[in-house]
Amino acid sequence: MISRLLNRALFVVVPFLGLLLSACSRAEREVRQSTLDPKGPVAQMQYDVFMDTVYLVLVLFAVVGGLLVYAVIRYRARPGDDTAPKLEEGHGNPLVEIGLITASIASLVFIAIPTLSAIWYTDDVPAEAVPTSKLSAWYSRVDANGKENYAKAVEDQVLEVDVIGKQWWFRFEYPQLGLTSDAKHSVPNELYIPRGKAVRINLRSEDVIHSFWLPKIAGKVDLMPGRKNHMWIQADQLGHYYGQCAEFCGDSHAYMLFRCQVVEPEEFAKWVQAQKAEAAPVAVGTKAEKGKALFAAKTCAMCHNISGHYGAGNFGPDLTHVASRKSLAGAWLDNRDTKAQLALELQEKNTEASTPVDAAKLKANLIKWIGSSGTSHADNGAATKDVKPGNRMHYYKMFNVVSLNESKQQFTAEELDCLAEYLLTLK
Ligand code: CUA
Repeated sequence: MISRLLNRALFVVVPFLGLLLSACSRAEREVRQSTLDPKGPVAQMQYDVFMDTVYLVLVLFAVVGGLLVYAVIRYRARPGDDTAPKLEEGHGNPLVEIGLITASIASLVFIAIPTLSAIWYTDDVPAEAVPTSKLSAWYSRVDANGKENYAKAVEDQVLEVDVIGKQWWFRFEYPQLGLTSDAKHSVPNELYIPRGKAVRINLRSEDVIHSFWLPKIAGKVDLMPGRKNHMWIQADQLGHYYGQCAEFCGDSHAYMLFRCQVVEPEEFAKWVQAQKAEAAPVAVGTKAEKGKALFAAKTCAMCHNISGHYGAGNFGPDLTHVASRKSLAGAWLDNRDTKAQLALELQEKNTEASTPVDAAKLKANLIKWIGSSGTSHADNGAATKDVKPGNRMHYYKMFNVVSLNESKQQFTAEELDCLAEYLLTLK
């Protein structure tokens, strides 16, 4: 009987321990989104509050658990002692009661002080994060009228990034730098920030509630429809960071990822310039040229902007520089060589290093992504599996016209190839 119970217990405990151990392995992909590995002041503050709470709870656990174990052993029924225990009624010990209440209040205060100061600290960029001595390389201290504007220069120390949540991807805009969707230069799913610089993140949503979470840098604050939330981040270590939507927002919530690339300020300035560049002309007589025509014919251009080629689309991600991005489909598909990337992460014992975009992989991803989208909507048991179930690539209510909503684009293999070749030219 007992051995059977033990066996059952092992059945439950062993896989659980295995899971626990695999989660602890630093060399695994799990470290990509670890709140226990802070790489900036906001994440550090949140980590510290978490650890304070853990230590307090461990002490409480030891005290309460210890007393419980003591009572169970000390007052256990002994062999031969079959008299029912006599419980004396009483009003308790006032000293013990007052002591317990005081201890409870003390532990709450012990948690409340760091918690409240952390809430205050993480709400907006604190003054100490914007030293006036370190004026930024890419902002002039001179305003539009040619006058030196020191207050403006100080405020400019804070880089503003608007984060807009959509089902199911993130749009990043840099209003100070002219990278906005109005200016046809927004950045989907890959947030670039300069190292060591305070960044104010303005959070908005164009549909449902999402949540911005970059585990190693900061998190989580909701993106609410009809409301502007904000937070601030700063990354002190260069690298490629993995983020995730942290609020259930519909079918593809689990596939709503994003990346954050932390670069040196000079590299950031270069990146901004590159984002402002328009798409280069496509060579005549190539597959890419056919693909470019298909991009309009298949109505892709109604949702996606490609500056220099097509400018009407605003619903879907901006594709002007799609071939330079390390991920696709809300950062769900990785455009890098997976093996090389994992090897690099294992070798660095960290996730920060990043391999470059692999053109062949990017092309395969593009074909997979465009070709499969919408299959989960089909009711005829589609053979292909949708990369991102429920995604809006071909199914959305444009201008609330139902017929458009229900029409799914069909592509031949050749068309997909041409489209991918075209998108590959958009570096
Ligand atoms: Cu967006 Cu979950």
